[in-house]
Amino acid sequence: MTLADVGGMDEVKKRLEISFLGPLRNPQLRTLFGKSLRGGLLLYGPPGCGKTFLARAVAGEMGASFISLSITDVLNMWVGSSERNLHDLFESARGHAPCVLFLDEIDALGHKRSQLNSSSMRTVVNQLLTELDGVDGNNDGVFVLAATNAPWDIDAALRRPGRLDRTVLVLPPDKPARAAILEYHLRDRPVAGIDLGKIADATDNYSGADLAHVCETAAEFAMRDSIATGEVRMISQQDMLSAVRDVRPSTDGWFATARNVAMFANESGEYDDLAAYLKKRKMR
Ligand SMILES: Nc1ncnc2c1ncn2[C@@H]1O[C@H](COP(=O)(O)OP(=O)(O)OP(=O)(O)O)[C@@H](O)[C@H]1O
Ligand SMILES: [Mg+2]
Repeated sequence: MTLADVGGMDEVKKRLEISFLGPLRNPQLRTLFGKSLRGGLLLYGPPGCGKTFLARAVAGEMGASFISLSITDVLNMWVGSSERNLHDLFESARGHAPCVLFLDEIDALGHKRSQLNSSSMRTVVNQLLTELDGVDGNNDGVFVLAATNAPWDIDAALRRPGRLDRTVLVLPPDKPARAAILEYHLRDRPVAGIDLGKIADATDNYSGADLAHVCETAAEFAMRDSIATGEVRMISQQDMLSAVRDVRPSTDGWFATARNVAMFANESGEYDDLAAYLKKRKMR
């Protein structure tokens, strides 16, 4: 899988290209412009819109130098020794530089320190801050990609310069992106006479995961008939339209929360993209 498999997300891809993939491919220019190969990017947005999927695509672009870990797993797997293991994880990333270290569900760890009642959690957060700063080791060539649904729960210290200082909002796909996502999820399925443009029109507000679910549901309809009649029937436009009616967009709840944040907790302008999107969609 590569970035080409990710439908839409042009802004996100551009950012990745400028801040990491481009410099990685051009070592001479990197030296010339004094650009260090390090940094952190926080992907945030509603569930199912492709944050994890995108990270996997970056892995594909880069070959082997990709370490991916869900923070929930870090905390569950290594009770009591999370800091040590976090350190080992970063050490391994440094050893494999250039490397992307993907920390999924970072809100599980980065909860505002004031909210943490367990002091062991606090130690883990502090350890992550230390690792991001690279005090103990040189972070050159280590690019940290993190993802979350709840950036407002993340410790502000994690978002200071030199850490996860760049933020990209990953939104539900627009129409061309929806067509691309639908095409991707139908690529290995038997289809006949499907008008992707029409389906894309009918799925405004659907997340990538919702669209994947639409394709799966349509495939089920065609398979159900094929089993009943003993004759293979291709997935049709009608199957797709019925599936769209069955699958409801799942991002409404997230936007309800996000709306409050954009309205009442955006003094520093960090949620301006979100506010602009909500305004465009007339959600505020
Ligand atoms: N841009 C896209 N192109 C193709 N498929 C996509 C895209 N976005 C999402 N999908 C599909 O939706 C599924 C869910 O996406 P993913 O798990 O990356 O979402 P997420 O943003 O990480 O969600 P969560 O916040 O719940 O972790 C993917 O496995 C993929 O099948
Ligand atoms: Mg995810």
